[in-house]
Amino acid sequence: MKPVRHYLQFSDLSQDECLYLFERSRVLKRLHADGELYRPLVGRVMSMIFEKSSTRTRVSFEAGMAQLGGHAMFLDTKTSQLGRGEPIEDTARVLSRMSDVVMIRTFEHSLVERLAAYSRVPVINGLTNEYHPCQVLADILTWMERHGSIAGHTVAWIGDGNNVARTWRQAAHLLGFKLNIATPVGYEIAPLAGDTPNDPAYFQAFDDPMEAAKGADIITTDVFTSMGFEAECEVRREAFKQHRVTAALMAVAQPHALFLHCLPAHRGEEVDAEVIDGAQSAVWDEAENRMHVQKALIEFLLLGRIAEA
Ligand code: CP
Ligand code: NVA
Repeated sequence: MKPVRHYLQFSDLSQDECLYLFERSRVLKRLHADGELYRPLVGRVMSMIFEKSSTRTRVSFEAGMAQLGGHAMFLDTKTSQLGRGEPIEDTARVLSRMSDVVMIRTFEHSLVERLAAYSRVPVINGLTNEYHPCQVLADILTWMERHGSIAGHTVAWIGDGNNVARTWRQAAHLLGFKLNIATPVGYEIAPLAGDTPNDPAYFQAFDDPMEAAKGADIITTDVFTSMGFEAECEVRREAFKQHRVTAALMAVAQPHALFLHCLPAHRGEEVDAEVIDGAQSAVWDEAENRMHVQKALIEFLLLGRIAEA
């Protein structure tokens, strides 16, 4: 039996597979825009487990599965047996006998790895404390739609060294671009066993956000306080005061620089309204691209490469 492919972190794809997915996303996006029905997944089902809140992830997977002719089911901790202590290994065995693909958003990444280890079908990470691999696929697709390859370009991450930042570091390594990162002291990307190292060819840490942003092609950030860290909210608000995306910061980047944010955003905190609502912001395309790139990902995991892409 062929081993099941999962998508738990960005580095689970090869560079070639990743570039294929971007191409395929554009094909699927175009078909959808043209109103052409493309339903290779009739009769196929996705189970979606949400242990944290979501707007974009839920809607993009659910809409994407429907567009591909399949169906997506929403499970949360409150109304499933997960909240009453059913082990994730048992949940994996049961769900994967009744669905063709499982998506999970949860806290510890190790839980997703345990789910995948016991699943007969592909598992997709829809965000953990450590990674958000679907998000960065959409972010890079958004850049590529406007400017082509991201290889050799520079992305500046301003703020928390969180799940999205850690995923950007993997992407930089895989796709050959540079990640400049400016985090407050104590909020750097925490080292994880087996993760992509801080290779100076692809990664540079800065104390000053302005230095990180200078000449960058993409400026991106995220909330001060990610889901699961709410108890630190006040301390973080203070700590992140100098690590915000303002018009002054955008001004030191390339004139063509895009502003990206995974959303939800807090105007006046990590980003000023004039930036996120301004001409350089691509956040709405970025949000929409979650759906297109995830359709390509689901298709790839379930059906393999499609010849005409
Ligand atoms: N960016 C993102 O994952 O959004 P949601 O939390 O709304 O799913
Ligand atoms: N870093 C944020 C991303 C939300 C989409 C969080 O984990 O809450």
